[in-house]
Amino acid sequence: MTDSRIPRFYQLSVAERLRELRDRGVLDDADFEALGTGSYILTAMKADQLTENVVGVFAMPMGLGLNFAINGRDYLVPMVVEEPSIIAAVSSAALIVRNAGGFTSTAEAPLIFGQVQVLDIRDPDAARSRILDAKQRILDRANSAHPNMVARGGGAIDVEVHLRGNSASNGQLLVVHLVVDSRDAMGANLVNTMCEAVAPLIEELSGGRVFLRILSNLTDRAMVRARAVIPAAHLATEHFSGADVRDGIIVAGEFAELDVYRATTHNKGIMNGIDAVAIATGNDWRAIEAAAHAHAASSGKYRPLTRWSADDDGNLVGEIELPLKVGTVGGQVQSNPAIRIAYNILGTRSAADLAEVMAAVGLAQNLAALKALSTEGIQPGHMRLHARSVAVAAGASDDDFDEVVERLVASGDIKVWKAQKIIEDLKGGATVTGTIDIAPLAATTVDPARNIGYGKIILLGEHSVVYGYRAVAAPLNLGIRAEVTGPADHNELVISGWDSDPAAHNPAGAELAARVAVLVSERLGVASTPVRVEVFPELPRASGLGASAALAVAVIRAMVHAFNLSVSEDEVSRLAFECEQLVHGTPSGVDNTVATFGRTILFQRVGDENRTSEVRMARPIPVVVGLTGVRSLTADTVGRVRAGWEKNPQHYEAIFSEIDDLVMTGVAALTTGDIRALGEVMNLNHGLLNALGVSSPELEALVDLARRSGALGAKLTGGGGGGAMIAVAEPDRIHSVANTLDVAGYQTYLTEIRSTTDDTVGT
Ligand code: MEV
Repeated sequence: MTDSRIPRFYQLSVAERLRELRDRGVLDDADFEALGTGSYILTAMKADQLTENVVGVFAMPMGLGLNFAINGRDYLVPMVVEEPSIIAAVSSAALIVRNAGGFTSTAEAPLIFGQVQVLDIRDPDAARSRILDAKQRILDRANSAHPNMVARGGGAIDVEVHLRGNSASNGQLLVVHLVVDSRDAMGANLVNTMCEAVAPLIEELSGGRVFLRILSNLTDRAMVRARAVIPAAHLATEHFSGADVRDGIIVAGEFAELDVYRATTHNKGIMNGIDAVAIATGNDWRAIEAAAHAHAASSGKYRPLTRWSADDDGNLVGEIELPLKVGTVGGQVQSNPAIRIAYNILGTRSAADLAEVMAAVGLAQNLAALKALSTEGIQPGHMRLHARSVAVAAGASDDDFDEVVERLVASGDIKVWKAQKIIEDLKGGATVTGTIDIAPLAATTVDPARNIGYGKIILLGEHSVVYGYRAVAAPLNLGIRAEVTGPADHNELVISGWDSDPAAHNPAGAELAARVAVLVSERLGVASTPVRVEVFPELPRASGLGASAALAVAVIRAMVHAFNLSVSEDEVSRLAFECEQLVHGTPSGVDNTVATFGRTILFQRVGDENRTSEVRMARPIPVVVGLTGVRSLTADTVGRVRAGWEKNPQHYEAIFSEIDDLVMTGVAALTTGDIRALGEVMNLNHGLLNALGVSSPELEALVDLARRSGALGAKLTGGGGGGAMIAVAEPDRIHSVANTLDVAGYQTYLTEIRSTTDDTVGT
């Protein structure tokens, strides 16, 4: 028998969870493979057979409710639901009940009935007698329409007649109920067919006119009742005694008894769980919802579906009662491969089993909600859960996990960067104050004699970074190398491969480059000994790939080595920043930092201070860099944004802040290696950059082509207005994206974002 208790399941990655389930024998090889590869997802072609005007399929998360012990048997309960906390909450409530002996749950016989509406009756009482006298004939007629159901032990079993009073224009309304045992089928189609089949006979017997023939969704012949008895001590929390929690739950239940507004929310919470199981098992959750709420109102007043009380021993007693006519066989189950897998995991043997599980899930869901609401409230639970997933994303170890979660919750700032900072602190690592120090930058391990400045791509956050918001940038495996080749009359830069265009003030053109050389030599104190520096660029200039900063770093390093100076990496970066000021006016500092350290960084400029931290990535992420062929000066686009910001600071700040959020989501995606999530935020960031006016028709065309060719995300990078675009895709797709761009005539570079470029540049 499956053990429904899987400690720390929530801490595993999806792949690890699948392996755990396979190892426990919950998944067979085929289901393991299907879940792992996504091959279980309904195809659009299949979907087209299920409903109309299909344009795609819509995916939802499927998780497992754990810890269920019902009628002495364990169940892992598949739940399809998008709302956070539902599955975690139901699992923890199920654990409380499990430790108290589990749920008892009882489903009535799986009956459903159809209604035949009869109008224009002359003598209603006589009609009713004739119909009831002919009950067997009616049942035989109904069953002849579905002999298979009779063979399975079910079929039409009873006929009832109800007189419902005068209708507006057709006399007394007579309604025949045809009661059917549909066994493990939900029974809707079966009942509808049977009602159609008996309609002529009902007309003949009643002398009236049959109008509607359709099942009733108020399935109150298929009631389910689940119960849990929990010793108060099992309910205790850190801050509340078990008796307090028990009494709180009872008071919360009374609120729903007395107030319809609360009863509605109370029942909604119950249906959170029941619907999630209904969807996973291919059941008609609209029918289940309709029945549940009709039942809740059956006394004439809308009431809660659960009751909570204390028994003589002080135990908390929870009970739920609702109609649940579900099916475990039939078209809906076969229609979707995910449903088949859900049944394999759940292991129910009949529709009655399933209904019993669903009622227990509803009761557990309500217990979780009332317990949370009557103690610390729902929100802290949400926060804690969120903190847990953030701690996982940040790579918290098993040992540190709980501590990281606690500190995250206490900080109120549940973000990946914060979790990483906490992990660093716990390790006794650098505790640089400030808000974004994920990990201090280590010195590069590149042989300094190679005098390289790294090119960079801004993955997220260009432009807003100039205004003190965060950006994430990565080094390219392309750089610029420089070498002092001898004395000269004046400091001179010789750049091979770049056309110099001083008239156009190109940022890395000869004139500006010469001014950079002068500045560097002055700052390094070697201006009195002019030299000739040769520069070997791999990077295109004026393309938003950080060529000017890379050039500055390369020149600085070349001079440092030629004059045998002792200069720290921080000083190299600072001096490159000064060069950037010469070239750009108001650089953020991100380019010179990446050009110097060659690491993927989260960057923020706060006042005069750079806050820089290294982003540690789960895996390298392949990137295509595409050049529009249109050169653009970052200084120009930065100026354009500034003009807009000055005119309309509020709207611009709102966009910057939105980008800042995307940056942090992107950092989380990099940390976990989630290329799809990274792609999504890149796409959004591109849209916002377009709103800032720094895209261009050429960039839009390139971004569009990259996305159409399979990129999961594409955006402009750097200053924009032309320059370069970056696109990410899964490793098996990236070549085809690059190829499409190549064929369309764009210059492309295939590269990888990794934590560091150590020893990959200039080799
Ligand atoms: C949220 O989806 C459900 C709850 O509001 C239910 C309740 O209040 O009982 C938490």
